[in-house]
Amino acid sequence: MEFNPAEYAKSRIQDLALYEPGKMREGYTKLASNENNYGPSPRVVETLKRESERVNIYPHRFQELREKIAGYCGVNADNILLGNGSDELIDMVLKTFKGPVMGLSPTFAEYRLGAEILGEEYSEVRLNDDFSFPAEEFISNAEGAGILILCSPNSPTGGVISDEDVRRVLELGKLTIVDEAYVEFYGKSVIAMMDEFPNLVVMRTFAKAFALAGLRLGYAVASPGIVELMSRVRMPFNVNSLALGAGIAAIDSVDYMRQTVEGIKRDRRILFEVLSGKFRAFKSEANFVLIDVSPMKAEEFFDRLMQERIIVRSFGKFKGFEGEYVRISVGTPEENRRLIEVLDSL
Ligand SMILES: Cc1ncc(COP(=O)(O)O)c(C=O)c1O
Repeated sequence: MEFNPAEYAKSRIQDLALYEPGKMREGYTKLASNENNYGPSPRVVETLKRESERVNIYPHRFQELREKIAGYCGVNADNILLGNGSDELIDMVLKTFKGPVMGLSPTFAEYRLGAEILGEEYSEVRLNDDFSFPAEEFISNAEGAGILILCSPNSPTGGVISDEDVRRVLELGKLTIVDEAYVEFYGKSVIAMMDEFPNLVVMRTFAKAFALAGLRLGYAVASPGIVELMSRVRMPFNVNSLALGAGIAAIDSVDYMRQTVEGIKRDRRILFEVLSGKFRAFKSEANFVLIDVSPMKAEEFFDRLMQERIIVRSFGKFKGFEGEYVRISVGTPEENRRLIEVLDSL
């Protein structure tokens, strides 16, 4: 029997492009996905070993982890919603609340993809030429939108949005997401604005500073009304028991994460200096640095590092911007030294 599945797929799915994750090759240094290459704390690793013997039981430590996260963020447990990575939280927000959706460009690709999967209209406001936040333009374009998405520090640019600008966006009264995936590398959060703005949803992840990317664990911080509505679209057991246990252990050993973040910030400064001597580099408050390698092509730069067994993230051109863009995550001190050696030899 002949069967053409595309004929039966929803038309909006037929037009979707696949999300392309950072590349990975065994034995290579991966600096492509902004992971924390120091790895998780020993306490997390111990917990995972222990929890692995109990995977016959459905996950149940949801409330315990919500309470831990609430303590870490200085809010209440009913302000916390857990997700299978913050990717899932993006999907849950978009499933729960009405579009159209408006974000920035360039920014994290999942916002557009998530909206398009659900058939929501998605528009974007171009960042300024230096990738700073165009507050006036964002605000004046927001009128027709239902959901606004900000990302600070932004991926892939590393830039941040000032508190004052976040506040001005929140004052529009629309449901506003602030993605703080990289907050630990920046050190400043907008969570405290929740008291004044019940329309704020802060999204966070354990994939970056806490080094748990492989376990898929994220959380949203929002007013209890938002958390309750979003919980209605949550799949039962959306976070698995290894991730729950690891999240609890990660917060119990938060000093370990903080030490690694200090190391990464130190190496970010060193890497930024080196990169700025060779390319147009953009100041970053996250665990990566974006560079414009033109006149070289981004793919050529990528290939040259790949030959040295280092994997970075090539974006090529950003729509509406001059330049050839590559993002490099900050690894361990040893990885950073080796990267700099390779850059010097280019
Ligand atoms: C800005 C931003 N938000 C969210 C995510 C995804 O996080 P998670 O791994 O928790 O789904 C990423 C991952 O690269 C990111 O850069």
